[in-house]
Amino acid sequence: MSLSLSADQPAVPANADDGVWLECIECGETFAPFDDIRYTCDECDGLLEVRYDELPTFDDFEGRGVWRYADALPFDEGVSIQEGDTPLYEVPRLEDDIGVEALRIKHEGMNPTGSFKDRGMTVGVRVAKELGVGRLACASTGNTSAALAAYGSRGGMETLVLLPAGKVAAGKIAQASLHGARILEVDDNFDTCLDFVQELASRGEAYLLNSLNPFRLEGQKTIGLEILEGFLADYDTVPDRIVLPVGNAGNTSALYKAFRELVQAGELAEADVPKLTGVQAEGAAPMVEAIENGADEVRRWDDVETRATAIRIGNPVNAPKALPGIRETDGTAVSVSDEEITAAQRDLAGEGIGVEPASAASVAGLRKLRNAGIVDADERVACLTTGHLLKDPDAAAAAGGDPEPVPGDIDGVLETLSDDA
Ligand code: F0G
Repeated sequence: MSLSLSADQPAVPANADDGVWLECIECGETFAPFDDIRYTCDECDGLLEVRYDELPTFDDFEGRGVWRYADALPFDEGVSIQEGDTPLYEVPRLEDDIGVEALRIKHEGMNPTGSFKDRGMTVGVRVAKELGVGRLACASTGNTSAALAAYGSRGGMETLVLLPAGKVAAGKIAQASLHGARILEVDDNFDTCLDFVQELASRGEAYLLNSLNPFRLEGQKTIGLEILEGFLADYDTVPDRIVLPVGNAGNTSALYKAFRELVQAGELAEADVPKLTGVQAEGAAPMVEAIENGADEVRRWDDVETRATAIRIGNPVNAPKALPGIRETDGTAVSVSDEEITAAQRDLAGEGIGVEPASAASVAGLRKLRNAGIVDADERVACLTTGHLLKDPDAAAAAGGDPEPVPGDIDGVLETLSDDA
């Protein structure tokens, strides 16, 4: 099985281009990476992965940001807005409160457009240029559209985004709009938007930059590489567990790929690979259902609902890559309520870290698993927070306290303050 941790490095096929090729995770068919536009396998429609003839070691990484990891990517540089290099915050109060040996927050909201999507887009838009495509497109719950619009405009390319009407947070639409994307609001949910973008891509109307595109995930591998390097620097060991919110399961797949490549390169022992632990909102939890039922396939949920609109997704397209990732690393998946998500958003805010609701799901999930005794007290854990608080100002304001109106004179201000005494 190509997605097992112990799989050997595959032989280089004749159609590799400068040591890079695409390979189907289901049937093993290989394809030249940049000759034609291709998102899935021609033979069996399986998901594709990018493969390399040589896998880098930690010593090969140099520089800053995503392109520090160029040796693990298909190009040496991309269409960049200085993405990556995000903080790995200490949260001592939360660490104590949840009750784990170490807890660090990898805050991807500190990327240029405020989410981890930038890491995928810097690579994906570079590939789009290589392929010479015209229009770039994505379906999005918001963040992908913001990143696509920004990186597309950086690369001087036309961008089109399909959003579920009424279900995308204000900050994200504002970004896509200002960066010049053409925005279509579809009267249906995200999964239908993605069906439409796949249809547009197959008709040659646009180049698809959702996480179904294997090159996006190459950029997102760098989240895992940064977390590992950060833990090695601070604790001299990699984390026991990485907890992350799950929508399309792109990050879960990307982190797993980063770990597999390190294992194959002899840089990481199989036994040390962090346990990948996915968190979904209760109202949109098809991956959790599949993990709990031991199912090989994920059932598409047609009706999904959660305050964490970024992960309001019923058909996680990367499930065939992510399910083995969770299982082979001995991880798990858990769902959390909207109330638990908001509580975690407040917990993080109490440590000075502002995140959007979907991001807080990771911390909510960790707390739930720790309370259930599934996460042990001696574990060192990294929680991924995927997007910035300002992405969803309405959710932030609802989770915070209300402003108090006061008269326009100092006596009125003093009186209001003394009311508290
Ligand atoms: N967190 C945030 C803030 C997101 O925006 C997303 C996905 C996820 C988590 C889930 O990540 O898909 O890799 O499992 N947002 C996509 C979008 C779907 O359109 O912005 P995943």
